[in-house]
Amino acid sequence: MALLKSNRLISCLGSISPTLGSLSSRNSSWWGGVQMGPPDPILGVTEAFRRDTNPKKMNLGVGAYRDDQGKPFVLSSVRKAEAIIAAKQLDKEYLPIGGLGEFTKACAQLALGPENDILKSGRSITVQTISGTGSLSVGANFLSRFHGGSRDVYLPKPSWGNHTPIFRDAGMKLNAYRYYDQATCGFDFKGALEDIANIPEQSVILLHACAHNPTGVDPRPEQWKEMCEAVKKRNLLVFFDMAYQGFASGDIDRDAWAVRYFLEQGHNILLSQSFAKNMGLYGERAGGFTVVCNDADEAKRVESQLKILIRPIYSNPPMNGARIAATILNNADLRTLWLEEVHGMANRIIRMRERLAAGLKKEGSAHNWQHVTDQIGMFCFTGLKPEQVERVTKEFSVYLTKDGRISMAGVSSGNVDYLAHAIHTVTK
Ligand SMILES: Cc1ncc(COP(=O)(O)O)c(C=O)c1O
Repeated sequence: MALLKSNRLISCLGSISPTLGSLSSRNSSWWGGVQMGPPDPILGVTEAFRRDTNPKKMNLGVGAYRDDQGKPFVLSSVRKAEAIIAAKQLDKEYLPIGGLGEFTKACAQLALGPENDILKSGRSITVQTISGTGSLSVGANFLSRFHGGSRDVYLPKPSWGNHTPIFRDAGMKLNAYRYYDQATCGFDFKGALEDIANIPEQSVILLHACAHNPTGVDPRPEQWKEMCEAVKKRNLLVFFDMAYQGFASGDIDRDAWAVRYFLEQGHNILLSQSFAKNMGLYGERAGGFTVVCNDADEAKRVESQLKILIRPIYSNPPMNGARIAATILNNADLRTLWLEEVHGMANRIIRMRERLAAGLKKEGSAHNWQHVTDQIGMFCFTGLKPEQVERVTKEFSVYLTKDGRISMAGVSSGNVDYLAHAIHTVTK
């Protein structure tokens, strides 16, 4: 009997061995053919920064807020919300697929405004997502599956680096419209309008709601109005990415102006939101994805399909960040405190822009640095050329991405003059 069993085993192994044989001749690994990929352009900057031993080194690559001592900043409103949540001794059961109801409701209200008729009529659906990236990814996959109109998505040129792989991996076809004018380091309004006028009907256009990343260049309200009209003429589907509500001007309503204006003008938008920056909840991964529909019935059907899409990827979203954000947004005192803190973060960045521009002037720079104060939000597109970026890193240990983008959040009272000196030295 034992012999019979072992014979069976041998014959069984025999039948697998050819597979094993061909495996060993093929590098003896399933993954032998996998090529080394390039490092992430932003995280690569941080790695190089870490290796640098210069005490004056500055990391202006990563887009995370720092206080004026250069330290990561946890908001008091967040700490207080955490204490409230801890005292409740809540359970850790799974959230529903679409996330925490009190979070998604408050998230949509924050973007659209609490009295918005769209919310009252129930013709929109918001699901909780894994921060802004997850929201864009759910959105891109939803488009890929259900947007019958077109596979084409148009991104501003340039756009946040992750937009391209997010939409490409979802099977969308990538295109660009002009956005940034290198000559003025400002908005290429004429170029944007010309390109929008030529986008094929029913394509998707991605718009940064405020604090455009990487350029820090936002359209002015009257420019938004013309863009809105142009987009309508081409019958384009608008996808707003709002990762910085409150971070641009310090005022959450002002930063949501473009989103609300497009809605008023009848655009049934898609909207991605993140609480990484405006609540400092980077690692908590709290975000929302909203689809504005024609009516409540359509919204219900869209919701059902979003759930079907999300379920096999991560089943349901993480609860901690959503609980914190919901506690802040739904508690009058905490909300007031949070709004003050958002204002404080945005103002510190605006002050650093002013001090950097003044410092460059004091250094005797002959260049026009007006764009440093004109641009808004976390990032400043300095206009530094790649060879100047290389020099500023090599000679001054100032780390930034190759495109000349600096995160203003990494600039403080203690290092802004050093930065001005460094930039002046490589640009004079
Ligand atoms: C334009 C833009 N969209 C979305 C995100 C998503 O961020 P997160 O996934 O951390 O919320 C970012 C973050 O840098 C961003 O700059």
